[in-house]
Amino acid sequence: MSLNKTSDNDDHYFYEPALGHGLPHDPFKAIVCPRPIGWISTCDSKGRANIAPYSFFNAVCDAPPAVAFASDGWKDSARNIAETGEFAFNFVTHEHAQLMNRSSVRFEKGTDEFSEVEIERRACRKISVPCVANSPAVLECKLMNIVELHDIEGRKTEYKLVIGQVVGVHIDRAFLRNGLFDFAATRPIMRAGYRGEYVQVAPDALFTMLRPPESYL
Ligand SMILES: Cc1cc2nc3c(=O)[nH]c(=O)nc-3n(C[C@H](O)[C@H](O)[C@H](O)COP(=O)(O)O)c2cc1C
Repeated sequence: MSLNKTSDNDDHYFYEPALGHGLPHDPFKAIVCPRPIGWISTCDSKGRANIAPYSFFNAVCDAPPAVAFASDGWKDSARNIAETGEFAFNFVTHEHAQLMNRSSVRFEKGTDEFSEVEIERRACRKISVPCVANSPAVLECKLMNIVELHDIEGRKTEYKLVIGQVVGVHIDRAFLRNGLFDFAATRPIMRAGYRGEYVQVAPDALFTMLRPPESYL
């Protein structure tokens, strides 16, 4: 019996995730791809700094500006945010690739991960959390909600969706050109589909397309 409701004659490979994908590797993250990396800095209730990357991350609204990431269980970042109500998003460029990757190591709780990974820090303004000193953009966030995700059968999953309102924004003036954040010039990296894969955004990747005027009605 095939787990996939498809045949060799179908133009589209189809599967129901609940029954298995039937491929050598799960394609889900290659389909929702590339994903921005939320490099999330926090402090625990004793003020010890923590930083880790999260690619189940995105902006979720702009009035007020808010971002969210999903933690597979109560990892230190989510736990710290539940305790303190604060976190910072640090924009990740190609320059940070190795440090960002190293910061995904599960250090013992309470380890100062900025020191451990040798990431230079500076203070945020509206929250008591450090941010990455040379990140070209930082969003200071205060906790709105932590949603414990349930599946369509009502079963609790391991995932905690942490949603934060942006209360402070830092932009490196070197990338502020004619009043625009030249994000592509920073060469951001994003998570791609499969194990160890990343995408680097270069300025020539950019194109402009305005929405049809009637779409704003
Ligand atoms: C690029 C990248 C993206 C990641 N995205 C996630 C994610 O979205 N959710 C998650 O739970 N873990 C993710 N991880 C793993 C965490 O970074 C890792 O478990 C880390 O130790 C968590 O640190 P913390 O306990 O200090 O929060 C990611 C790792 C990398 C390298």
